[in-house]
Formats: sequence, C-alpha cells, structure tokens
Amino acid sequence: MVSKSSPNSEFLLNVPYRITEPDRIPAERYYDQDFYDLEVERFWPHVWQMACRLEEIPEPGDYVEYSNVGQSVIVVRNAKGGVNAFQNACRHRGVQLVQKRGNVRNGFTCPFHGWCYDMEGANTFVYSPDHFRDENLDPAELNLVPCRVDTWGGCAFINHDNHAPPLRESLEPFATNMDAFNADQMRTEWWESTVLPVNWRLALGAFIEGYHVLTTHPQLIPPGTRDREGSYAPSRPDIEYASRYAGTADSKTQVENFLYFLRNLHVGMNGMVSESELAIAERLSGAEFPDPATASRDYTHMIYEAITDWGKETGVPVPDFNHIIEKGIHSGTWYAFPNFFLQPIFTSSPQYRVRPLGPEETLFEVWNLTPYAPGEAPPTPEEPTPMAPDDPRWPIIPLQDFSNLPRQQRGLHAKGFEYMRLAQGVEAMISNVERLVDGYIAGVGHERLLHATQLTTGRVGHIDMHSPEVFGLEP
Ligand code: FES
Ligand SMILES: [Fe+2]
Repeated sequence: MVSKSSPNSEFLLNVPYRITEPDRIPAERYYDQDFYDLEVERFWPHVWQMACRLEEIPEPGDYVEYSNVGQSVIVVRNAKGGVNAFQNACRHRGVQLVQKRGNVRNGFTCPFHGWCYDMEGANTFVYSPDHFRDENLDPAELNLVPCRVDTWGGCAFINHDNHAPPLRESLEPFATNMDAFNADQMRTEWWESTVLPVNWRLALGAFIEGYHVLTTHPQLIPPGTRDREGSYAPSRPDIEYASRYAGTADSKTQVENFLYFLRNLHVGMNGMVSESELAIAERLSGAEFPDPATASRDYTHMIYEAITDWGKETGVPVPDFNHIIEKGIHSGTWYAFPNFFLQPIFTSSPQYRVRPLGPEETLFEVWNLTPYAPGEAPPTPEEPTPMAPDDPRWPIIPLQDFSNLPRQQRGLHAKGFEYMRLAQGVEAMISNVERLVDGYIAGVGHERLLHATQLTTGRVGHIDMHSPEVFGLEP
C-alpha cells in the first residue's frame, strides 16, 4: 500500500481501467465492482460532499442525516447558529442515533439503551454506569465522533478527511463566481429526486457537457439558428447566448431568439428563469435596438437593469449584475467537483447533487433555488420521495436528460465497446473528472489533487482537457 503523500506512479498502475489517453474513457469504469469499491474506499472519504441546504436546519437542534456510500453523518444546527457534524453512531454499541430529520434541542437519546448526547456531541447520560469498567467510560471517549463540516453558498458540506484542503479552496473558482450570483441568498423553491439505473459519473457526465443540447434538447435552439457550423455553439445556455449571432441576424431576430431561449428555460426547468424575470424580458423585447452588433448585449443589459429595479421594489436580493458583467462571469452550468453543480441565469438557479447507490445506481437530486424578500421564503423544504426518471411531473429538460442515461449504461456493456471517445473542449470536463478520480484512487497527494480540482471546478464548456502531467497522472 502506497501512502497518500508518496509518488503515485507505482500505485497508478494498479488503478483498474485507468485512463491512459485523456479522451478515451474505458467503459468498465462505469460498472466494474472493483472500481466502485476503490472509489468507496479511496475517493469518497476524501472529498467535500454537500450534506444539506441550510434552510433544512433553520432552528437550533434541527438536524439532517446525510449518508453516502455507507457512511452516515448527522448535520445539526447548534445553539449559536453554526453547524456541527457527527458520525451517526452511539458510542455504546454503535446504533445510529438519528434517521432522516428532526430536532434535538434537548439532545440525542439513543433508542437502544438510552445514552444521551447534547447538540455539541457531548455525552450527557449513561444508564447504570456501574455496569461498566472505568476504562470503558473514559469521558474523552464517550462524546460523538465529530465529522469535519463547513458551509458555503447556503449549504453545509462534510468531509471525512481531516487533512483534506479547506472547503473554500476546494470549491474555487466555482465559489467566487457563484458568490457573484448571490448563491448564499437563494432558497429552495422546489426539490425533487430520482433513482437512475446508471453509474453516478455517467449521470454527472450528461450534465457537464454542452455537446448534447442540440440533439437532446432541440427545443432550446431557436428555429433558424440550427446550422451545422454553429451546431453546438448554442449549447452553452449563457446570457451571451444570443450575442453569438450578433451581426449575423437583424436586431429583432436576435432579441426574439434570446427571448425564445429564456421562455424555454423557464418552462423546461420550471423556474431556472423565474416568472417575474420572464415577464420583464417579454416586456422589454419590444424596445428598439438600432445596432445589430450590440443588440443582444443591449437587450441583456436592459433585462439586468430591470431585474435590479424589481429587486429594489420588492426587497428580493438581486445579484450585482454590474459586477457580473465586469468580471465576465456568465450564466451557464458551473460545476464543483465531485458531485454538485449550479446553473444560474439571473437571480435563480437549479442545483444538483449526484450520489452513488451502487456501481450502476444513482440518487440524482434537483432543486430550483431562488431569492425571496425577507420573511417570504417558504418553510423548511420536505425531502422528496424519488420519482421515476420518466415521471411526467419532471420538467422537460431533466426528463430529456434522464431518457438517454439508462440506454447509455446498457450500451456500455455491449461486447466490443471499449471506451467512450470524448470531444476536445466541449467534453473536456468529463475527462478531467474521471482522471481526478484516478488521482484519488492512486493516492496522489492532497496538494496535487487540489490543483487538479481547481482546474476541474468551474464553468462547463470553458475548461481544457488538461494533459496528464497537470494531474500528476502520467500513464
Ligand atoms: S447502543 Fe446506544 S445506548 Fe446502547
Ligand atoms: Fe441536458
């Protein structure tokens, strides 16, 4: 066994189905039990995992159980308004103290023999202590085992590795860019989940590339813009979308195309563009935009200004769009390694979390987040019961994405199908994610993994397929 900090080359040779060519991903990685077991052992315990949204635990004592790959953690709002996390196991005989959700303002009581713990995890009661040898009641050993926890963007994240780099660093540059969209001010509007009969990285891979949009989501492409050359240009749903056609179409067409896109995002993701925002965009679409070279941009900026005014009137916190323009931060899909991503357009954003339930089964969750005026946010959201992936209650866009996945998972098992061949650029993120997982399995040091994480964490479609050396993963 090679230690975490030692050179990796020797161990890497032992990573099954490792990636030796960045744009070729061996199929077995998505169903092989040994590969999955290595992920459970060497990857998941070392990464930051989004454990809950903070509005799930608004009051002191509110807790949620977060579990993934057989590890269950209690995330609890403490008396000071901060967040604690503990391993979900009684120090007596290991019974899980909590399941799902609840409030432990008066502390945790183990259902088996009644041992008690407070919100800070301190043991407060042992029933009939005389029955135990003193060595087994050492107070230092009776408290709940803490789990590392930190917060960002309205979410609590946990990490089982006390030596992993801090959360914030692990989320950059995603975190700074999503701060510009006021990620921490958004709240849950709706939350749904599904169980997909596919590997978790396969499910993820359907969302961190824009190459599929033209074919899978044809309704997002305005009629008349479907030329072969631009075939995947419109596949990055960003605010400058229409400006790609600047100068190629008259002002009116550009504005209409952009509005078409916004309407389809509003309906297709049930709120990604909110009702109020769409109404603003509709109202402004009648304005005159004399210069075709800047028409889409001018229209977009006009929408930004009107949303800002609407925020001032209603008290809804609206991001500083001037800052967003100045920094060149565009809307689109923003990914945070390993299993979390956002898709902000204006003030609202879908949020996703992807967890494995086995080599070929995945719990896939989707939220729509939106900001509310003070006091207007809905109460604690209910944890959803998974809907079937083809349940017609899903908005059309995820329904379309889910429809391909089971077929892809089955296709990967086909005799003679050796590897997925990835496009450069537009599918680069898939390669980087896969090789970063190899890095964890190989036991590459934290410093290198952090560097590779930061190169893999950001805006989909805007990163390079980095060379193996960058990952410290020379084949
Ligand atoms: S297992 Fe918890 S009190 Fe016995
Ligand atoms: Fe999609």
